[in-house]
Amino acid sequence: KYDPTVKLFGREYPTDEWTNVNKSIQDKLERKLIHQKYHPLNHLANKIKHFFYKTYINRNGNPLFTIFDNFSPVVSVEQNFDSLLTPKDHVSRSKKDCFYVNRNYLLRAHTTAHDNELIRSGLNCFLTFGDVYRRDEIDSKHYPVFHQCDGVRLFDKNELFKDKALEMDIFDKDEAGIKRTFEKQEYYTLDASKIVEYDLKNTLTKLVQFIFGNNCKLNMKWVSATFPFTHPSWELEIEYKGNWYEVLGCGILEQKILTNAGAENHIAWAFGLGLERWAMILYDIPDIRVFWSTDEGFLSQFKYDDPTHSKITKYKQVSVYPPCPCDISFWLPDKTDSYEYNSNDFYDLVREVGGDLVEQVTLIDNFENKKTKKISHCYRIIYRSMERTLSQSEVNELHKKIEAKAKEQIGVQIR
Ligand code: PHE
Repeated sequence: KYDPTVKLFGREYPTDEWTNVNKSIQDKLERKLIHQKYHPLNHLANKIKHFFYKTYINRNGNPLFTIFDNFSPVVSVEQNFDSLLTPKDHVSRSKKDCFYVNRNYLLRAHTTAHDNELIRSGLNCFLTFGDVYRRDEIDSKHYPVFHQCDGVRLFDKNELFKDKALEMDIFDKDEAGIKRTFEKQEYYTLDASKIVEYDLKNTLTKLVQFIFGNNCKLNMKWVSATFPFTHPSWELEIEYKGNWYEVLGCGILEQKILTNAGAENHIAWAFGLGLERWAMILYDIPDIRVFWSTDEGFLSQFKYDDPTHSKITKYKQVSVYPPCPCDISFWLPDKTDSYEYNSNDFYDLVREVGGDLVEQVTLIDNFENKKTKKISHCYRIIYRSMERTLSQSEVNELHKKIEAKAKEQIGVQIR
C-alpha cells in the first residue's frame, strides 16, 4: 500500500514494513507553525527565547543558551531513541505510537532527539524548538503533531562549585558504580546532584513565572517521574481552572549520555516542554485543533508585536458559523486644516454599527487618482455571528447602514 519510496523535504526514503507516515501527516510537515509570524505558538516560543536570552548572559554579555528551531523533524531511530538510552523493547518505540518513515527513520517524537548531537558538538547550554509527531487519538487535548522546546545545561566542576571547586567534586570516587538512589545517579556526589537539581528547578520555576506570572496566581508542584534519559526525573504540574496540568518533564541527564557524547567531565540537567499545553493555558485556548486553523478569526486575534511579554490576549472562541465577507470602497474626504482621514475613524464606526457581528475589517486596496488627487480605500468587512448563520439580506442591510453612516459622519464618497 506504500510506494517504494516516500519523499520528505526533497529527500527520498525507501519504505518498508515499518512505514506508516500517511499523507495527512506529511501535509503537516510543511506548516511550520512556530515560524508563522503572530501565531500564538510563535509568540510563546519568542517569549521563552526572550526569557533565556535576558536571564542567562555570559561574561562577555552574550546569551549563554544557543537556540535551534530549524532542525528537520525527520530523525534516525538512533537519535530519537538509542542515543537517549531508550531500551530496545520500550513502549515509546512502538509503530502504534510513532510515525515511521522506515525502520531507520521516523518523525521525531520529541525534540530531545537532538540533545546527543548538540552535546557532542561542544555546546554547554542550548534550547531546541520544533514540531513533534505522535500517533494519538484526536480530541480537544491530543493532536498527532505538536510542538516542544527542550533545554540542556552542562556544568563542569568550576561552574558548579565556583570558589568551592577545590574542595568539592562532581564524581563520587569512593562509591562509583555502586549506589543509585532515588536522589541521585551512582556516579555523582550528592552535593553535585542537588546543586544541579536546584538550578534546574529554579530555572524552570522562573520561566513559568515569567510566562504566566503577571496575569494569574499559579500553584505549582514537582512530581517525581521516570524517563530513560534522566535520573532523577520530575514533572512540573500547574493548577489552572481547578485542574492540575503536567506542563514539562525534566531531570538530571544520564551520565552515560554525556560520556557517549564526549562530555564525561560534566553533569547536566535537561527538560522538555509542550508548547501547546502552555499556550492553551496562557491564551485560554480550549481546543488543540485551533492551532491548525487558517481562519482569520483566529489568527487576527494575535496580530501584535510583543517581544517583551507586556500584553497577553485571551483567545475568543471562533464561531462555527460561516463568515460573510463584504467589501466597501470610497473616496476619502479632502484633507482640511481640522480633519485628516484616518482608517481608525472608519474602524470605530464599523464597530459602532456592526457590534459583535463584525469579526474583522481589513484595508485591501488604497490608490490615488492621478488627475483629481483623490484617494480611494477599499475595506473588506467580515461579518459573522457566534450564535447563528447570518442571512445575506441581514448582512446587506448592516452593510448599507455602515455605508450611510460613513457618508454622513466621515464625509466619504461611496464608489
Ligand atoms: N522528552 C520528554 C517528553 O517528550 C521530556 C523530557 C525531556 C524529559 C528532557 C526529561 C528530559 O515527554
